[in-house]
Amino acid sequence: MRRLAPTLRDDGVNSDLIFLIRTILAACKEISFRLTQGELAGVLGSTLNENIQGETQKKLDIVSNQLIKDVLLESGFVRSIASEEEEHVVAGDPNGKYIVAYDPLDGSSNIDINSLVGTIFSIHLADDQLPADDDRQFLKPGSAQVCAGYVLYGPSTMLALTTGKGVKIFTLDKTHGGFLLTHDQVTIPKDTQEFAINASNQRFWEPPMQQYINDLLAGKEGPREKNFNMRWIAAMVADVHRVLSRGGLFTYPTDHKNPEKPYKLRLLYEANPMSYLVEQAGGISSTGYERIMSIQPESLHQRVSVILGSENEVRTCEKYHQP
Ligand code: AHG
Ligand code: MN
Ligand code: MN
Repeated sequence: MRRLAPTLRDDGVNSDLIFLIRTILAACKEISFRLTQGELAGVLGSTLNENIQGETQKKLDIVSNQLIKDVLLESGFVRSIASEEEEHVVAGDPNGKYIVAYDPLDGSSNIDINSLVGTIFSIHLADDQLPADDDRQFLKPGSAQVCAGYVLYGPSTMLALTTGKGVKIFTLDKTHGGFLLTHDQVTIPKDTQEFAINASNQRFWEPPMQQYINDLLAGKEGPREKNFNMRWIAAMVADVHRVLSRGGLFTYPTDHKNPEKPYKLRLLYEANPMSYLVEQAGGISSTGYERIMSIQPESLHQRVSVILGSENEVRTCEKYHQP
């Protein structure tokens, strides 16, 4: 079975980027180990802190953030980092070639129930015209990413990765610590009968999403004339992994539950890297009104509405949003 570095070299990925990806994965292996130890490692539960998003940080959010931050800052390849758990950009090596945005632990509410969580990362080239600690290093559309990926900490630890040449999935072989290629050229089926949404927010959605979901729920007797199945893991990594594995539509749409926070998912370290993976696997990622990867970001922790997955289903959902 093929290992990560030779596989990426065959794709023409340069050795600096391969080194950087392996650096991130070193921290992810450590996170994977601590999650496996669970209660025994004393890392479960919450802290008394809130992050910049106003969310209570879990101990593992902080531990994971620090593990990734340390390896990135030591690598010499990273000019700047942005994290869900850091209010500001953190400056790295002034000569670093890359910048990395990451969600150290996605799906934190699953930690204490021993359920699925993940790490998401997005890599761009650093901008030589800007200081390393300038937010504008990160205010680039997702279409400029040079690499994106996630690590899913499940019954097995899996990496989904794109460097712009399709999507590959690797599985961590815990006997020797290597990520081995287990799915080459991941392709999302164009059609699906499965969707993922937190339906408890239904009354707060915009009318187009209300109508779209109503029509899915109406099944064979409704306008879609087929039955749909629903899944919701409450960890975007795990829900997107299902979409990459067997297709589906995943959405966290606009809602007016809290008028100050009409979107949940963060553009730079959740929506953009996942959109890059989904598009590279032949799917679509949209806000309902525009392509996510074409959005010009305005701030580091900006949020966005997300509808992604199987091409025909996302296109159908977009039609409900047309005026
Ligand atoms: P995070 O744990 O990094 O804050 O992200 C959680 C996100 C995403 O992973 C998931 O799809 C969604 O929040 C779950 O939201 P609900 O709690 O509303 O189900
Ligand atoms: Mn997240
Ligand atoms: Mn997180």
